[in-house]
Amino acid sequence: MASAYELIDHEFDVVVVGAGGAGLRATLGMAEQGFNTACVTKVFPTRSHTVAAQGGIAGSLGNMGPDSWQWHMYDTVKGSDWLGDNDAMEYLAREAPAAIYELEHYGVPFSRTESGKIYQRPFGGHMTEFGEGPPVQRTCAAADRTGHAILHTLYGQSVKHNAQFFIEYFAIDLIMGEDGSCQGIIAWKLDDGTLHRFRAKLVVLATGGYGRSYFSATSAHTCTGDGNGMVARAGLPLQDMEFVQFHPTGIYGAGVLITEGARGEGGYLTNSEGERFMERYAPNAKDLASRDVVSRCMTLEIREGRGVGPKKDHIYLHLDHLDPKVLHERLPGITESAKIFAGVDLTREPIPVLPTVHYNMGGIPANYHGEVLNPTETEPDRVVHGLMAVGEAACASVHGANRLGSNSLTDLVVFGRAAALRAGKVLDRQAPVPGINRSQDDKILAHFDRLRNANGSRPTADLRDAMQRTMQEDAAVFRTGETLASGVERMSAVHAQFADVKVTDRSMIWNSDLVETLELENLMINALATVVCAEARHESRGAHAREDFPNRDDENWRKHSLARVTADGEVTLGYRPVHVDPLTPESEGGIALKKIAPKARVY
Ligand code: FUM
Repeated sequence: MASAYELIDHEFDVVVVGAGGAGLRATLGMAEQGFNTACVTKVFPTRSHTVAAQGGIAGSLGNMGPDSWQWHMYDTVKGSDWLGDNDAMEYLAREAPAAIYELEHYGVPFSRTESGKIYQRPFGGHMTEFGEGPPVQRTCAAADRTGHAILHTLYGQSVKHNAQFFIEYFAIDLIMGEDGSCQGIIAWKLDDGTLHRFRAKLVVLATGGYGRSYFSATSAHTCTGDGNGMVARAGLPLQDMEFVQFHPTGIYGAGVLITEGARGEGGYLTNSEGERFMERYAPNAKDLASRDVVSRCMTLEIREGRGVGPKKDHIYLHLDHLDPKVLHERLPGITESAKIFAGVDLTREPIPVLPTVHYNMGGIPANYHGEVLNPTETEPDRVVHGLMAVGEAACASVHGANRLGSNSLTDLVVFGRAAALRAGKVLDRQAPVPGINRSQDDKILAHFDRLRNANGSRPTADLRDAMQRTMQEDAAVFRTGETLASGVERMSAVHAQFADVKVTDRSMIWNSDLVETLELENLMINALATVVCAEARHESRGAHAREDFPNRDDENWRKHSLARVTADGEVTLGYRPVHVDPLTPESEGGIALKKIAPKARVY
């Protein structure tokens, strides 16, 4: 059946979808090698959510004291609560310094020490001596605007290397071949309503997380898990979706991020009794324990009646004891945010804060080269030809059940770079781009047309609100079988109501009603996978804290969840093993296997 829509054609070696830190680093790496590279992005590159990353990027440069990639790897393994893949976690820690020095040479304006080196601050869960020593200063910072600095630099460099940007194009779906390979994407140009077919030898998804499936999140409103939705519609699985990170310090009410760097610079949390309660829960790392731990402790303090404020429903973060010069030099961004969003003068008063959804550890299964996986029982590491995923959209899996603060920017640049390095090895420069695949195009356009003309009774905003409240209430910091069963039931019902969605605007130009509907469809796929995986996982691990299964169960649950979500909202679960072997053997300077074997996670 021929479609009523015309497609404008483009052919590239590589199409990167998304222009955050991972997307831009991949774009730059591809363009530097001479690949004909397109970057397709729904927002202007420097407005991507990476711009909001504050505290910094972790890497064992050792500028402030002794450090090593082995210590960084150990902390990442422990932070992941032993769910991360050890090969990928080694790659992250080992390659981080090189990736950071590259950023420096590209022009990122890092803060400096007295001697001119890159300034590094402490961050939660980053320790010395394989977790036995005091916190280490490993997080490289550009004041508290590190993501902003990185994003602007990478965009400038990508333009310099002649990458072609397609800005304010909404990627609708992947074009998948009969043989299961990816052949390109179809995208909608928002400002003139035209539709575009990008055929490419390689598509790299760098579409970010899906924080907006929750009611209160530090994520931008654009974080709608679009790549994950595209992957699910292509029949591919999502991995470890039950692991959703709550950042301890979102501003109470507004949800705006106050960087963990604030605690890195000496900030601390107090309850209604003025007690620095983290000393009780994490005697060694205190306020710099891992995020999942701090978020749970804050929630417990509130539950036990020691919250602050008239409703005793939040916690105070103190920076009022710090030298105003430190606030001015190291934390200018949050000084402003606290004033604007909480009406607080940081030099005099504490900030009211609350754990707030911040990051998705789960996403598109990928190996440490960025190649997307479509696991089977017999081939758990089967690669999807022509498709990569990097950054928060991907699950490599370097964060396992819980990500350490400042390992996200590291993930973006290390794996954006890894994808480009891999492409340099495996992409055939002489091969033609895949041909036109009309049946796929027609399917994608028919789906788009159905939503454009959806004439049901439920406005998109109503359904989005129902989804966000369900996720906030039923898949929170603490979970039980009961809340999760309720979450599955309520999310399935909300998803079913999407068949009755109403789109009011039928135009093709700047139709934000339709954009939000496409985004909602993607968000709901992510939300469903999250609650179903969470209900099925009968243990507590990292950010997945079940009150009915309070312990980690390595015998039965040290494995990755896989969720395939159909158009009808059916979720089929499967599992794949964790990669236990690191890349470098101990005899060649790698970390000893027994050192990274699971044990009690104490900070
Ligand atoms: O707290 C922060 O600055 C956030 C950093 C991160 O999520 O890595």
